[in-house]
Amino acid sequence: MAIAKRTFDVVVVGAGGSGMRAALQLAQAGLKVAVLSKVFPTRSHTVAAQGGIAASLGNVTEDNWLWHMYDTVKGSDYLGDQDAIEFMCRAAPEVVYELEHFGMPFDRLDSGKIYQRPFGGHMQSFGKNPVQRACAAADRTGHAMLHTLYQQNVKANTNFFVEWMALDLIRNAEGDVLGVTAMEIETGETMIFHARATLFATGGAGRIFASSTNAFINTGDGLGMAARAGIPLEDMEFYQFHPTGVYGAGVLITEGVRGEGGYLVNKDGERFMPKYAPNAKDLASRDVVSRAMTIEINEGRGCGPNADHVMLKLDHLGEDVIKQRLPGIREIALKFAHVDPAKAPIPVVPTAHYMMGGIPTNFHGQVVAPYKTGPDEVVHGLYAVGECACVSVHGANRLGCNSLLDLLVFGREAGRQIIEDLKSNPHVKPLPADAGDYSLARLARLENQKNGESVAEVGAAMRKVMQKHCGVFRFPELLIEGVSQIKEVAARVANTEIGDKSRVFNTARIEALELDNLIEVAQATMIAAEARKESRGAHAREDYQERDDVNWLKHSLYFKEGYRLDYKPVRLKPLTVDSFPLKARSY
Ligand code: FUM
Repeated sequence: MAIAKRTFDVVVVGAGGSGMRAALQLAQAGLKVAVLSKVFPTRSHTVAAQGGIAASLGNVTEDNWLWHMYDTVKGSDYLGDQDAIEFMCRAAPEVVYELEHFGMPFDRLDSGKIYQRPFGGHMQSFGKNPVQRACAAADRTGHAMLHTLYQQNVKANTNFFVEWMALDLIRNAEGDVLGVTAMEIETGETMIFHARATLFATGGAGRIFASSTNAFINTGDGLGMAARAGIPLEDMEFYQFHPTGVYGAGVLITEGVRGEGGYLVNKDGERFMPKYAPNAKDLASRDVVSRAMTIEINEGRGCGPNADHVMLKLDHLGEDVIKQRLPGIREIALKFAHVDPAKAPIPVVPTAHYMMGGIPTNFHGQVVAPYKTGPDEVVHGLYAVGECACVSVHGANRLGCNSLLDLLVFGREAGRQIIEDLKSNPHVKPLPADAGDYSLARLARLENQKNGESVAEVGAAMRKVMQKHCGVFRFPELLIEGVSQIKEVAARVANTEIGDKSRVFNTARIEALELDNLIEVAQATMIAAEARKESRGAHAREDYQERDDVNWLKHSLYFKEGYRLDYKPVRLKPLTVDSFPLKARSY
């Protein structure tokens, strides 16, 4: 079947922080750039990032990038690649100042410098005491950042394709990537975006869980497309639960609340974090705080009639601080928890938040996977940045505020690398004769499926399995059952139908396509989690409670084909400084 085609130098899939930072770099270099986004760019999920961007500016307390690097390596439970972490922490001040010069409306200190607040796991002097490192625009930092980057992109003539969903990667016989197929959501029109370089910046996949801080658009689209095209997914077993999602609603309450002095209490009003993290207390890293909350709840000290959540207390900060520094949190608490946080605590539970794993890349954004001649090669034409990529700077557990930093540093670097790579690749490579057929066949299956299951029901079944079998604590029997159950759900996904086209809204098709992507992420997460027989960072097993560096200091690689797992070494050697040696973590 014929399918229309447009040609660009670069197609960027996703218009969040990393996609727009990369697009800006590329468009400013005079390249013809298409950015595809399922939503209007400033509604991408980066908009929900609240607390800040980590950078060792030292505006409030003394700081330096090496302390930041140490905290990130330790936070990752030593699974992060130390060369990439050095690269990110060193570049942090520069990308923040660059953003400031693009017009980002940061909060200011009286001195006029950027306001910085404490955040979990960020410490001074190699772990001694909390440091103020999170550069904040109130509690709407991601929102301010997206608007800044969008305006700069408009100025640079980036071409936005708004409400377009990418469907599949196009690869030639050699495995080089030549662009994507995509569909306009409103009309169902399909098109090939043929390009010299394709950059995935598709964000996370929090919607594999029933309770998530993530937007409905976070459906792992880049990972689904990569997995279907034979590219492995790295470290998928590591999924972060943010300690403070609003109980019952899942909406994020920024760690910045604890950065400003808020703290968690159990049903007895006891501030319990000092028991678990005597030094950092409520500002320990997220995996530590989420586990402590879960233990409090499991041991009967949870709050409410079902004793199934704890409370985040911030009334002592006073109305002025709350209104000035945490205005969005006040609104969220009023709307979703029906409490005024200046008067009463907010009910919270650990909630699925961030995928540490993703499409394997080096720190230039180039996708690295088994390819033409070797197991560990750059895939020509394909790049990935942001949450959909695994660089790996977050390892087994990401520190708060390192995500916005990751978007800026690696978005910019991927842009720089693509510009470099395109110098030796001046023309688009020809498309294979069957380009687009795979996507059209997927769409035809959906259109023609009769007597299939409803997308909503199968999606709910997937989320239930993930929530029960792959949570904050992981149990051997639940993981084994989880693997077989998620495979059963995958078989059902292949048999979904969208219903009578004359009666259903056109987003039904989009939800079905999104479920195709989500199920790839869910399977990779469950299978990799069952296989990793240790506890590290966000992966906490009841049967293997210790970190096992002898057998498990390695990244997992999940291949869709045959549900195969492989492993590759962690890069322990930084670029210019000495490695941080492996140590037990305590906060
Ligand atoms: O708590 C927060 O504001 C979230 C930040 C992050 O995930 O980095």
